[in-house]
Amino acid sequence: MTGKAMLLCAMALAGGVNAIDGASDVNIPALEPLDVKLSPESLWEDFQNYTSTDELLQKWRVSRMALRDAKTGDTRLMYPATWSLQEPYSLKSFKNDNCLNLETAHSAAMIGHALANPLEVANGNKLVVQYEVQLQRGLECGGAFMKLLPPMNGTELLRYSGGSVPFEVIFGPDKCQPYTNEVHFGLKKTNPTTNKPEVKLLTNAPISRLDGDETVRLYTLIMDSKSQDFEIRVDGKVVKVGNLLDEGLFKPPFHAPKKVPDLKAKKPKNWDEREFIPDPEAIKPEYWDESEPLMIPDDTDIKPASWDENMPEYIPEPNHFKPKWWEDGEDGEWVAPLVRNPQCFEIAGCGPWQPRMVENPDYWGPWNPPMIENPKYRGKWTPPLIDNPDYSEDLNPGTLENPIGVILFEFWSGSKDLLIDNLYLGHHVEEAELLGNRTFIPKRKLQEQQLEAEVIGRRGHIEHPKKPPTMFGQSEYKPNLFDRLSDYGDTLLEKFSQQSSFIQNILGGSILVLILMVTSYFYLKAVLFQQKYSGGSGTGKDKKGDEKTEEKREKKQQANEPEPHLEQVDTKGKNVGSTKRKTK
Ligand SMILES: *[C@@H]1O[C@H](CO)[C@@H](O)[C@H](O)[C@H]1NC(C)=O
Ligand SMILES: *[C@@H]1O[C@H](CO)[C@@H](O)[C@H](O)[C@H]1NC(C)=O
Ligand SMILES: *[C@@H]1O[C@H](CO)[C@@H](O)[C@H](O)[C@H]1NC(C)=O
Repeated sequence: MTGKAMLLCAMALAGGVNAIDGASDVNIPALEPLDVKLSPESLWEDFQNYTSTDELLQKWRVSRMALRDAKTGDTRLMYPATWSLQEPYSLKSFKNDNCLNLETAHSAAMIGHALANPLEVANGNKLVVQYEVQLQRGLECGGAFMKLLPPMNGTELLRYSGGSVPFEVIFGPDKCQPYTNEVHFGLKKTNPTTNKPEVKLLTNAPISRLDGDETVRLYTLIMDSKSQDFEIRVDGKVVKVGNLLDEGLFKPPFHAPKKVPDLKAKKPKNWDEREFIPDPEAIKPEYWDESEPLMIPDDTDIKPASWDENMPEYIPEPNHFKPKWWEDGEDGEWVAPLVRNPQCFEIAGCGPWQPRMVENPDYWGPWNPPMIENPKYRGKWTPPLIDNPDYSEDLNPGTLENPIGVILFEFWSGSKDLLIDNLYLGHHVEEAELLGNRTFIPKRKLQEQQLEAEVIGRRGHIEHPKKPPTMFGQSEYKPNLFDRLSDYGDTLLEKFSQQSSFIQNILGGSILVLILMVTSYFYLKAVLFQQKYSGGSGTGKDKKGDEKTEEKREKKQQANEPEPHLEQVDTKGKNVGSTKRKTK
C-alpha cells in the first residue's frame, strides 16, 4: 500500500466517526407520506409499505436455487447475498425512509418482484424506469443494474437461476474497473436466424457515477416505442440521448441487412478489371518522329548589345583567403569559393550567351497505341455476399417481445449496505419526474447538507481500487454483466449442476473474488506474522507460541462473531475484504 493510499484509508476511517457528528448537526425530519396519483398501470415502490424484512421478502423474492460441487458434494446457494429493509445510516434520509438494502458484499446477489399487472411496451407507448441507488461503503467492483423480465409468479422467482430466463431490458449502473464503469442499457431480441435470445447493448454508455461521495443517485431510462428514441438520465440530468436505430450505437445492431460482403474474400488473380486496354495490333505510323525534342532554341532571339561573353559570370570571392592551417601538400590547392560577378549586373549579362528556348512545332512525343475495349473485361470485382451473422430486420426495436412482469436485480455485489429505493416503472415521463422531484431531490439535498456539516476528511474516497486479477486471463474474466450475457440463453441451469459448469456459466466472477479473498487472507497472515517478528522481539520459541495464541484468538473471535462474514483489517487499517468461513 502506498503512503497516499494509506492516508486516504485513515481519513476514511476517521471520517466515518465524524460523519455521525456532522449528521447530528443537521435536522432530520420524518418522511412525509407522498400524496401523488399515478396511472393505474404504473408501479411505484418506495418500500414504505413493509413493516419488517420478513414482510418485504414476501413481495421481493430471493431465489433459493442451490448448486452442488461435483467433487465434494457440498451445496451452496446460487445467490447467497441477503437483503433487508433498512434506513440509510451513512448519509441519512428522512426518518423512517426505508430502502431495500443489500447486506452482503463479495457475493452473487438476486432479488425480484413479480408485478401484479404486467406492463406492455408496444403500440407506441413509452417505457420509463427510474430508481435510486445509494452506496454507503463505496464500491470496489459491483453492479446495481436492473433487469426487466417477462411475467413470473413468486414461486417461479424462488426457482430463478439466471440465464434460464431471458430478460427484456437491462438498465443501470455497473462498475468494475478497469473493465467497466457505465450505465448499461440493453434490450433482448430474438435472433431471427438462430432463434436465440440476443442482447443488444448500448455502446459508449454513460459513466456509472458509482463513485465520489455517498449521496443517493437517481437513474432514469426513457424509451419511446414509437420514435425509437431513448434517453438516460442520472440525477435527473440527461446524460445520453439517441435512437435505437442509430448506426453503430447498439451492438449487435437492431436492424442489419441479411447479406453482407465477405470481407475475407480476395479478388481472383485472373479477374480482369481493366475496361480499356492498348490496342495490341496498332503499329506506330512512319511519319511519327519520336526524336524531335519538345523545346528548341528560338532563332529570332538576338544577343543584347551590352552582353559581354568575355567577362566571367562567376569570380572567386574577393575577401576569402586561404586559412592558415591549409597545407597544399595535404589538402590540395586552395581555391576561393565562387560568387556571381557583380559587374554582370550592370550590363545585360556576361558569360556565354544562349538564345531562349521555345516549343518545337515538329514535336510528336512518344507514340502510344490507341485504347480499345478490353474483350476480357469482367467488370469491377466485388466481394461475394454472405449471410450476415448480425442479421436483424427490426425497425421497431422499442417494442418489447414480451410484457414486463418482473423487476429483478441480479448482479455481483461488491459492497454491502447498498440501498435501492423509489423505484418507478410505467409509461409516463411526467410521473417519474414528479416522483424524482418529490423524493430524490429532497433526499439528496438533505444528504448534501450532512456532507457539508462534516469535516473535510469525510470526503476522502472510501474506495480501495482493486488490482486487476492476474491469475485468470483477461478474456476469461468478464465481470458482472458480461459473463452472464455471453452464456445467456445457452443452458438451463439445473438445481445441482456440476462444479465445472458452475464456474463457467454462473459465477466465474465469484470464484475469482473468492480466490482473491483467500489469497489476501493468507497474504495478510504472512504480513502479520512478519511484522510480529521483524520487530526484533522474541526468539524461535516465542514465534511458535505467538502463532498459537493468534490462532486461538482467531478461533475465539470467529465463534463470537454473529455475522456470517469475517471482516479483515490489516495493520495499516485498510479493509482488505471479507472472506467466507467456509473457504478457510
Ligand atoms: C400496502 O400494504 C397493504 C397491506 O398489505 C395493501 O393492502 C396495500 O395495497 C399496499 N399498498 C401499496 C401501495 O402497495
Ligand atoms: C406459478 O406458475 C407455475 C407455472 O409456471 C404454476 O405451476 C404455479 O402454480 C404458479 N404458482 C402460483 C402461486 O400461482
Ligand atoms: C420537476 O422539477 C423541475 C425543476 O423544478 C420542474 O421544471 C419540473 O416541471 C418538475 N416536474 C414535475 C413533473 O413536477
